[in-house]
Amino acid sequence: MAKSSEVVQIGGFGSTLRRDAWWAEIVPVVVLLGTFGIYATFRAFEGKFYAWGPYLSPFYSPLIDPEHHWWRFSPALLVLAGPLGFRATCYYYRKAYYRAFFLDPPACAVGEAGKRRYRGETSFPFILQNLHRWFFYVAIVFLAFLWRDAIHSFFFKDGLGVGVGSLVLTANIVLLTLYTLSCHSLRHLAGGKLDCFSCTSFGPARHTTWRCLSRLNGRHMLYAWMSLISVGAADLYVRMVSSGLLKDIRLL
Ligand code: FES
Repeated sequence: MAKSSEVVQIGGFGSTLRRDAWWAEIVPVVVLLGTFGIYATFRAFEGKFYAWGPYLSPFYSPLIDPEHHWWRFSPALLVLAGPLGFRATCYYYRKAYYRAFFLDPPACAVGEAGKRRYRGETSFPFILQNLHRWFFYVAIVFLAFLWRDAIHSFFFKDGLGVGVGSLVLTANIVLLTLYTLSCHSLRHLAGGKLDCFSCTSFGPARHTTWRCLSRLNGRHMLYAWMSLISVGAADLYVRMVSSGLLKDIRLL
């Protein structure tokens, strides 16, 4: 009988009794996450075309030392760790990239490469994934800055107005907020480790909060992808306008 720490596997890598196209699930993850990773890395190091008029790219927010008084590299590198850490340790993304990039396993009931001891996320470096609950608090701080940027995007030099960029940045922060509020860690904060809501202080309020967060949590995967696309699109829009490739359209 196999020890509980060993992977029990019949056949080699990719062997399965599944008849469906199990690989179809990992292809979009590779394409989307791979494209975003390459683009975000390029933009983080580029260090220019991150602001135009009242618009600021979400990759560079909050903007620290743009005049390069004490930091000679791209300002994005000073703030990258917060949002990157939050997404990289997200429960949903972990499942997605373990399957799509590590092929470990590539899908449910599909053979992985080799037979080895299974330690899950109990040893280095994967034990660091437990930092997610702390990255959640960091993400809340970033959300506050991005809401400030979205509101600021309506304040043009000649007064209050609405540009396409204002709408792009606002849509982005709404999606990022939905992604953050649907986080598993927040749902656990509201109602985890509880057998009885009415036995605790603020029980009814906590129960209502937990139910609302649970509803959002059910769509976490959707918000994860939508907000990933929106943050990349918002940065791309600001970059194009800032570099002169595109003219921002003023709607109001
Ligand atoms: Fe995905 Fe927390 S679980 S953001």
